[in-house]
Amino acid sequence: MKSVLIIGATGLVGGHLLDRLLQSGDYGRVVTVTRRPLEIIHDKLEQHVINFDELAQHQDIFAVDTVFCTLGTTMKQAKTKEQFVKVDFDYPLQVAKLAKEKKVNQFFIVTAMGANQHSRFFYNQVKGNVEAAIQELSIPVLYIIRPSLLLGDRNEARFGEDLGQKVTKVIPYLFKGPLQRFKPNEASSVASAMLNLSLKNEEGTHVIESKMIEQYK
Ligand SMILES: NC(=O)c1ccc[n+]([C@@H]2O[C@H](COP(=O)([O-])OP(=O)(O)OC[C@H]3O[C@@H](n4cnc5c(N)ncnc54)[C@H](OP(=O)(O)O)[C@@H]3O)[C@@H](O)[C@H]2O)c1
Repeated sequence: MKSVLIIGATGLVGGHLLDRLLQSGDYGRVVTVTRRPLEIIHDKLEQHVINFDELAQHQDIFAVDTVFCTLGTTMKQAKTKEQFVKVDFDYPLQVAKLAKEKKVNQFFIVTAMGANQHSRFFYNQVKGNVEAAIQELSIPVLYIIRPSLLLGDRNEARFGEDLGQKVTKVIPYLFKGPLQRFKPNEASSVASAMLNLSLKNEEGTHVIESKMIEQYK
């Protein structure tokens, strides 16, 4: 039975992934690394609650077949650019390096639509930088998932997501044709697509843009 590690299982996409992986017959061991405990007990679940500044002290956790990294923050939460870079670049890259050292076969990272190292926008730049840095590690199977605005239930209100939810419901035809790539993605669809893609196990680097997520879910 294959093993899988989720980094970010307390988040919106990570939470959906965790639910699916615990139900999936394809993965026998589901490992999580979080900074606060998950309120779930399951035979397949192995939880590790750590301080992310000490990731390197937990190298053995990374000996799995597949890693899903759904870590991320917002400028509102992070408060400074340095803290944002720490969560959206430094931690994911360190996770990827540790996994590579443990010979992981597949690595999935959720970045964002518009990720681009040369973007004028700080957010897109950081996402593009983390994609590029992880690609350099040459992990056999790398999936970069670039969702649009994420939809789903979360405890905290986020203005853009609330607006996206309303617009998608009220004017669904808005996101047809050239605007299709801006259509918000359900976090549950992103999670389903990631699980399904992991079962294909296709070598190489694959970039999954927002509008492709529906076809794999
Ligand atoms: N939200 C959107 O509309 C949107 C759109 C496009 C792309 N994305 C990207 O998609 C990915 C998943 O998004 P999401 O909405 O599912 O994220 P989320 O719900 O905000 O979850 C983020 C995860 O990162 C963890 N995290 C944040 N700061 C941390 C820190 N300092 N130390 C350790 N863990 C930390 C969170 O842990 P805690 O629960 O403990 O905070 C949580 O598990 C992210 O990379 C995000 O940038 C989001």
